Amino acid sequence: MPAIVLVGAQWGDEGKGKATDLLGSRVEAVVKFNGGNNAGHTIVIGTGAEREKYALHLLPSGILTPGCTPIIGNGVVIDLGVLFEEIDGLQARGVDTSRLVVSGSAHVITPYNRTLDKVTERFLGNSKIGTTGRGIGPTYADKMARIGIRVQDLFDEDVLRAKVSGALNIKNQTLVKIYNRKGFEVDAVVAELRAYADRLRPMVTDTALMLEKMLDDGRTVVLEAGQATMLDVDHGTYPFVTSSSATAGGACTGSGIPPTRISRVIAIVKAYTTRVGEGPFPTELLDEKGEQLRTAGAEFGTTTGRPRRCGWFDAPVARYATRINGVTDYVVTKLDVLTGFEEIPVCVAYSVDGQRHDELPMTQAEFARATPIYETFPGWDEDISKARTLDDLPRNARDYLTAIEKMIKAPISAVGVGPGREETIAVRDLLD
Ligand code: GDP
Ligand code: IMO
Ligand code: MG
Repeated sequence: MPAIVLVGAQWGDEGKGKATDLLGSRVEAVVKFNGGNNAGHTIVIGTGAEREKYALHLLPSGILTPGCTPIIGNGVVIDLGVLFEEIDGLQARGVDTSRLVVSGSAHVITPYNRTLDKVTERFLGNSKIGTTGRGIGPTYADKMARIGIRVQDLFDEDVLRAKVSGALNIKNQTLVKIYNRKGFEVDAVVAELRAYADRLRPMVTDTALMLEKMLDDGRTVVLEAGQATMLDVDHGTYPFVTSSSATAGGACTGSGIPPTRISRVIAIVKAYTTRVGEGPFPTELLDEKGEQLRTAGAEFGTTTGRPRRCGWFDAPVARYATRINGVTDYVVTKLDVLTGFEEIPVCVAYSVDGQRHDELPMTQAEFARATPIYETFPGWDEDISKARTLDDLPRNARDYLTAIEKMIKAPISAVGVGPGREETIAVRDLLD
């Protein structure tokens, strides 16, 4: 049976966590394959007074599904303090975290990389990326520069000391001489990392081998992306991106599952657009309509609490996501947030220096100058949160979905009409 990839189609926070959670108990394992605790997934379970809200950062969303094995793949960067805090928090709420497994090849976020993330941003001033400050960028940079610390290094103190010492030879020079900060002591860093080793050891395994066995046994495995297509280090709005591969290709390298095993790519897309941090965003609304989207959609970051920038749906962005990821199915989320707008504009193309672009312009400089060309759809006032089939939706909402489905060039298989598990319209089975 298949491996299914689940990615974000925009700039993150599309509702990937809810979508993964929806796939539910027919899934044997959920693998996080990129990113780290820069991600924030809010999952709402239950109804009415029973409603429970979970905010996950490092743990795969499958952790909330009984019987599902959550896997932190080799492509992830792990802040061990955050990992155990999150595990403890879930255990305190009665969630079984005992099946969690972690790849020995995943990289560890070190204290000096958390510091470097923050001081680099400060140094960049007006050109800052607006990172989450969690040490993500510097940790991936170390991985590529081959001076990273991996989970497996924690279990041999001599190996760990040699690696930390080698990295600090470079890092301390940078911190002290460029940024005028204090350097880190090898002993202190080794002690901080080693403190987690005993608790971590039983969770660590060859996750790629484990996944191959699951797939050979006919199980369904979901590879869940953090971040999203437009934040991907190769395919996003570079340099205003995260430092990992958040698109479908990254699912293979970040988990050790080969491309030939992947049968489906589900992309999650909001019925409008949001972005956190700096960087181009052609459909951004800086007026009261943007404020209305932010309020109705509760668009404040799960990780940093920052207000998310809000704007209308951008069809060329989603169509780009379809192409880059090979999307087979879309889950459109937060359609309910558009309720009450008299008119709903959709960006169908861009104007750059007076020229029309139907697809994303080739260069970042052009994309930064792109202004949206809108087609406007009539809105609806009815509460749609109780809709469970497309026929339950008001005509204008259905027409809106039909129009964007045509523009994004892949079928819409589910629609979110509220944050809860049950507040979903299932159009097609995502796992068949
Ligand atoms: P992720 O990072 O992609 O997992 O998304 P986040 O959890 O950061 O942000 C999505 C937010 O929207 C969360 O607070 C979800 O509970 C919420 N959400 C997801 N789907 C829907 C939906 O269809 N309607 C509404 N109103 N909220 C939703
Ligand atoms: P989920 O998984 C939205 C953004 C940051 C910043 C840029 C780089 O919840 O969709 P980083 O700390 O990764 O170096 O920051 O990427 N960013 C996200 N924006 N959702 C996320 O994750 C994000 N993870 C990183 O705001 O602009
Ligand atoms: Mg999020």
